[in-house]
Amino acid sequence: MAAKRRYERTNMKVLTTIADFRRERAAFGSLGFVPTMGYLHQGHLALVERARAECPAVAVSIFVNPTQFGPNEDYARYPRDTARDLALLEAAGVDLVFVPPVEEMYPPGFGTYVIQPAADEVLEGAARPGHFRGVATVVCKLFNIVQPTKSYFGQKDAQQTVVIRQMVRDLNIPVEIVIVPTVREADGLALSSRNVYLHPAQRAAAPVLYRALRAAAERYAAGERSGEALRALMREILAAEPLAKPDYVSVAHPLTLRELDQIGPEGALLSLAVRFDQVRLIDNWVLEPAP
Ligand code: PAF
Repeated sequence: MAAKRRYERTNMKVLTTIADFRRERAAFGSLGFVPTMGYLHQGHLALVERARAECPAVAVSIFVNPTQFGPNEDYARYPRDTARDLALLEAAGVDLVFVPPVEEMYPPGFGTYVIQPAADEVLEGAARPGHFRGVATVVCKLFNIVQPTKSYFGQKDAQQTVVIRQMVRDLNIPVEIVIVPTVREADGLALSSRNVYLHPAQRAAAPVLYRALRAAAERYAAGERSGEALRALMREILAAEPLAKPDYVSVAHPLTLRELDQIGPEGALLSLAVRFDQVRLIDNWVLEPAP
């Protein structure tokens, strides 16, 4: 109710059908676009802020995309609070919000997917079969609906940024992809909608991801170039935290995401997936090419 009242005051338009969104979008020229699954936090708002700084108008989508969740993942219990999200977006000066129901995005008979087989072989793709098929498909559909000039993604989902960039290149989608740095809590924990699931003891333990990444980045800055040495260092730091159960610890090529024996002139992506019982957190750190 509060969101509706304020929406009327600021002219932020909230659309639930593709036809309505397209009609309203036609009133704008160049558009910045932030796709989200809602339950917004400062990380999402940093994407919106960047879009506002760079684009004359901004659109945001809120859609918990069922096709990117595996059968044993948390689709049904993924946190949702659309009224709060709309209030935050309105305060952030967003022009258009697209909040489609599932049937609008995946009507009966839907059967076309965007697949990158190589993405499914490594990191999140290997750990979550079908995840990137769902992400690439929904982002491709959203790009077709929204027709943005620029679209904004967080570095927090590093492999997602690689997949989206490759899709845009391969399918000649006329949009510029902008990657925005990860927003962190004061103790280093990367902001994520899933952080709300952490019990207090797990929350206290969770910054171990950041500590492991930072230690490996410092070792790299000191001259270490062995991928295995950096993986071993991160594993050792994670092992000191009993609540943290690593899924993977990676030092990979920044574009192919294949594991590296030696870090070369292109630098590397450090990434981690760690379980705290039922909660699985990911984080990463880009090792810039050495000068
Ligand atoms: O990063 C996310 O929140 C989602 O993967 C995205 C890009 C909105 C697609 O559903």
